[in-house]
Amino acid sequence: MPAARRPLVAGNWKMNGMKHSGAELIAMADGYDAALKDKADLLICPPATLVALLAAETTGSGIAIGGQDCHAKASGAHTGDLSAEMLKDAGASFVIVGHSERRTDHCESDAVVRAKAEAAWRAGLTAVVCVGETRQEREGGSALAVVAAQVRGSVPAGASGANLVVAYEPVWAIGTGLVPTVGDVEEMHGEIRKVLAEALGEEAGKVRILYGGSVKPDNAPTLLKAADVDGALVGGASLKASDFLAIAKAYA
Ligand code: 13P
Repeated sequence: MPAARRPLVAGNWKMNGMKHSGAELIAMADGYDAALKDKADLLICPPATLVALLAAETTGSGIAIGGQDCHAKASGAHTGDLSAEMLKDAGASFVIVGHSERRTDHCESDAVVRAKAEAAWRAGLTAVVCVGETRQEREGGSALAVVAAQVRGSVPAGASGANLVVAYEPVWAIGTGLVPTVGDVEEMHGEIRKVLAEALGEEAGKVRILYGGSVKPDNAPTLLKAADVDGALVGGASLKASDFLAIAKAYA
């Protein structure tokens, strides 16, 4: 991986976690030793109810805290929603936008995802923009085209290595134990970087592209060493400090 891109191992807790889950995060912080800090960044995205608490508990640990979604607007009459500014105020430095579960459960289009990424930047957060094809699209041979279109539609103009992370998460690999071949991952990450380069030129070489979907301690060393893979977005295995640290140690 080029020196311009420091690996990022990110955990997405989804709709999991209570106040006592802070103990797991503190165990992660304890295991984030100097050797690992030298090699990789760590990020945990807990449910919104825990962002402020966990940001306070991990102050000084080097582990960043992020949200899992934000509204495109800064404030207003949007019952139940959260703005990027609120996440920032609570101590977040990243926010995931366009996760496939949001695209499916909340019918989020590329345009909506792009507006959310712009909102993240407005608030001073780094946007983690998720893309990925369904099983049908993979089997039908359109995975590359589908994901390229998602990147074109979801990444706003003005993206940089500092304000954008892209996460490639094949929908069929999320929570299923299935993972693409290393060849398929490398082909897709290469395609994503090519599409980013069309818009960003040389800056595309600074944007981290994560792989997500059934990343576990046993497959992490293979997946994370694949060409153009700059880290992982981990779901289930990020809930336990021992698993999450074991994944990150693929870099140590
Ligand atoms: P799993 O690691 O549980 O497959 O989830 C991946 C994911 O959706 C992370 O955002």
